[in-house]
Amino acid sequence: MSNVSFLAFVLLISPHLHTGFGSTTALPVLSPHAIFSLLDTSCVIALDPDAKQDMLHSLQALSETAFHNEQGVTICLLPCSVPWCTWSSDHHHQHFEWASPPPSGQEYAILFLRRVKDRTCLLPQPEFYPKGLPLPLGGRDSLISLLGFINEKCHTYRTLEGGRNLEGRQRLAVLNNLFTVTEVSELDMGQVYDVNIPLNSTFRYEVANSDGMKSLFKKRKRSLPVCDRIPVPTQEEFVEKYLKRSKPVVIEGALTDWPAMQTWTYDYLLKEYGSLRVHVKLAPDGVFEGCEKAEHFEDFKNFTIPPFVLSQLQFPDLVVVRPATADVTFAEFLQMMQESARSKASAYLEYSSIPQYMPELQSDLEELPFIKGLLTRKHLNLWLSDGNTLGKLHFDPFDNLLCQIKGQKEFIVFEPHSSAALYEGHIQEALLDFNKTSKTFRRKKLLDSTSMVMSPVDILRPDFKTFPMFSKAKPLNCTVGKGDVLFLPAFWWHEVQSYPSKKTGVNLAVNFWYEPFLKKEFPCATCKLDFNSFYRHLV
Ligand SMILES: *[C@@H]1O[C@H](CO)[C@@H](O)[C@H](O)[C@H]1NC(C)=O
Ligand SMILES: *[C@@H]1O[C@H](CO)[C@@H](O)[C@H](O)[C@H]1NC(C)=O
Ligand SMILES: *[C@@H]1O[C@H](CO)[C@@H](O)[C@H](O)[C@H]1NC(C)=O
Ligand SMILES: *[C@@H]1O[C@H](CO)[C@@H](O)[C@H](O)[C@H]1NC(C)=O
Repeated sequence: MSNVSFLAFVLLISPHLHTGFGSTTALPVLSPHAIFSLLDTSCVIALDPDAKQDMLHSLQALSETAFHNEQGVTICLLPCSVPWCTWSSDHHHQHFEWASPPPSGQEYAILFLRRVKDRTCLLPQPEFYPKGLPLPLGGRDSLISLLGFINEKCHTYRTLEGGRNLEGRQRLAVLNNLFTVTEVSELDMGQVYDVNIPLNSTFRYEVANSDGMKSLFKKRKRSLPVCDRIPVPTQEEFVEKYLKRSKPVVIEGALTDWPAMQTWTYDYLLKEYGSLRVHVKLAPDGVFEGCEKAEHFEDFKNFTIPPFVLSQLQFPDLVVVRPATADVTFAEFLQMMQESARSKASAYLEYSSIPQYMPELQSDLEELPFIKGLLTRKHLNLWLSDGNTLGKLHFDPFDNLLCQIKGQKEFIVFEPHSSAALYEGHIQEALLDFNKTSKTFRRKKLLDSTSMVMSPVDILRPDFKTFPMFSKAKPLNCTVGKGDVLFLPAFWWHEVQSYPSKKTGVNLAVNFWYEPFLKKEFPCATCKLDFNSFYRHLV
């Protein structure tokens, strides 16, 4: 980097640069160093001051009109009489990388893409090289097409005059109309638990997880506000009232005509798939992926986290407990499921890909008319258990249609806007182990991976001392019964208590995960939902 700081010194020259053609331009001259630091908030278009007059004029015009009030785009001059600016990724001065190769024999400006923080990785990041795109100028017939190219690459929404273009106005209309729970209820978790009365340890013991949420919240003498419950909507109603607003809704009786409602009996599944090998999750008392103290794990004393990683964990003493796993046949799984009530080891076939393992079943699942042709499907999963499972609080980065075939699921959900109150962030993971002979669990080992979607807060026994902001989180109860569908938009937090069907003693559901209509960077407690431009055609 030493040559870069040297150049920064050399380039401290007048922003009104005299060009070779005897005219001046008002574009600022920026050093490579200045450009590097701008890239956290803006993309940067850099032009050689010796470029042709019409290019200089085009970019200057855009800088003074379209992007005059736009922080996401900076247009500048970068003199190329210096070695840094050979504008190629040569072996000696590899200061930036080409995102796509520059055209040969054409003149172009260079567009440096904004730097996107990699939130998934806690290890030291490799040295940052800006990604450069050639911005061809010679062949462009109009400012409009140049503007279109820049808007697309820089994620801006400007008109030539500097206003908002149609897509920008639509995006803003969507973001200004997002659903928030306060529209339907002011009740927060502080009120549910009455934080002024400290929970004593006897009480905590009383509400062991196996009680389920129903009895717990009954104890708190509060019933939670509930989701909208509607009959099957038209596609337009679904899009306008729920999809675009990121609003959860239970669609009652949506599955009445599904063949799966009749045909997916215990005997049928056993006959068709008995010998299929499946990957089953096992957890004590049916509690899946809660948080626990890391010190309870066997190798705690031996496990060291690199200080660099440690410093980025909000709750280094906590771990997300991953369930034990077993590879068994589907018939063996059904057997385990039936025994689970007695053994306290709950067996759960979860996140199980239907297209991959049971593709024939897809013909029993008709795509629901209100969503047909609308969203792009990413996953289709099967969920089967004895109905005594509790999936602890987390979010998924997909729009979700949960289709309940047998039994009931009670979703306690919290909106994505309250991610700070749920302490979104990385949490270390740890693994349980199950001994088939003794039918007991061991807290086997800490892992050197982290979860990015789990909340550290136990909503059934909230520790308001450690998580004071949780008292402000506003819950919503979305319960689905047999034949119902829950639309749960991406990034909504959910804790899911399953209940068995009274008739069959199982809980059976499938869920569709779609590319989300609204997306968000994660893990990031302060990041906001944004319009997913993948669905530009829908607005
Ligand atoms: C804790 O709560 C239980 C049940 O409400 C009560 O009987 C007990 O006296 C309380 N203990 C303390 C230390 O306050
Ligand atoms: C949620 O709603 C369901 C049915 O609508 C109800 O049975 C259950 O008790 C509610 N749960 C809570 C915690 O309010
Ligand atoms: C921890 O490390 C020590 C020394 O290497 C070893 O003897 C011991 O078995 C380890 N303990 C666990 C629980 O892995
Ligand atoms: C599993 O439990 C049985 C019975 O308690 C014990 O004999 C065996 O060693 C355990 N297996 C492992 C791998 O710990």
